[in-house]
Amino acid sequence: MRTTVPQILEMARRGERLVVITAYDYPTARIVDSCNVPIILVGDSLGNNMLGYESTIPVTMDEMIHHTAAVVRGTQHALVIGDMPFMSYQAGEDDAIRNAGRFLKEAHCQAVKLEGGAAVAGILRRLVQFGIPVMGHIGLTPQSLNAIGGYRVQGRTVDQARRLLEDALAIEEAGAFAIVLEYVASPVAKLITERLTIPTIGIGAGPYCDGQVQVIHDVLGLFPDLHLKHARRYAEVGEVIRNAIGSYRDDVLEGTFPGANESFSMKPEDEVELARL
Ligand code: KIV
Repeated sequence: MRTTVPQILEMARRGERLVVITAYDYPTARIVDSCNVPIILVGDSLGNNMLGYESTIPVTMDEMIHHTAAVVRGTQHALVIGDMPFMSYQAGEDDAIRNAGRFLKEAHCQAVKLEGGAAVAGILRRLVQFGIPVMGHIGLTPQSLNAIGGYRVQGRTVDQARRLLEDALAIEEAGAFAIVLEYVASPVAKLITERLTIPTIGIGAGPYCDGQVQVIHDVLGLFPDLHLKHARRYAEVGEVIRNAIGSYRDDVLEGTFPGANESFSMKPEDEVELARL
């Protein structure tokens, strides 16, 4: 059975910490889904992590739909959230409704996420009115990278903190079922978590949020040279892949792959006849 938004809210109400991780493709989604993780986010970090873009800004709706649908096909249990890419909702309610609708109708995910505070609250409210569960996202919002000027921690002054709290309250009031706090100073994330009734999901926002979200590449060490303060690496999968491909290459070059047990035989009598061809 697939996890539902009301079940997620019930888990949060019981004080259960919410575990969220990104996935972008079918095989990875299958593995994550077998790990009892209740929420998979198909983030628009797809752009940096899977498509080799420098930021999330070039990511298109078609790319998001393509990958979100693959993740949904790979899962039976997790709630799958599709991340609305840059300019798929900012231009107005009609765009937002059409594009959020595409996530549910074409990718078959159960909810969407969008970035922004009070400025997008009206749009978010419309989606919720049409029965589309929405996760908010404030703090460092990578779609605004050009305005922010870099990946900077947000809420380090009291003024910034006040604005973040106002944004969080506006998103809650608009009907979001949860909100991501990205790169927010811990005391501010704590304050927001205490003031909201919906669960906060932190990334680089310290330990006081109701849940945590991580990018799967960071947790698995898929980019061996990338070391991020906010992420904990639980494996060195990049190294594992590098070693495996290196061994495969060596075995082919040395003629030790494929071996007899990795090859297909014929009946001995057919082989004798074959030699006469
Ligand atoms: O795109 C993404 O992966 C995200 C998470 C970092 C929250 O928005």
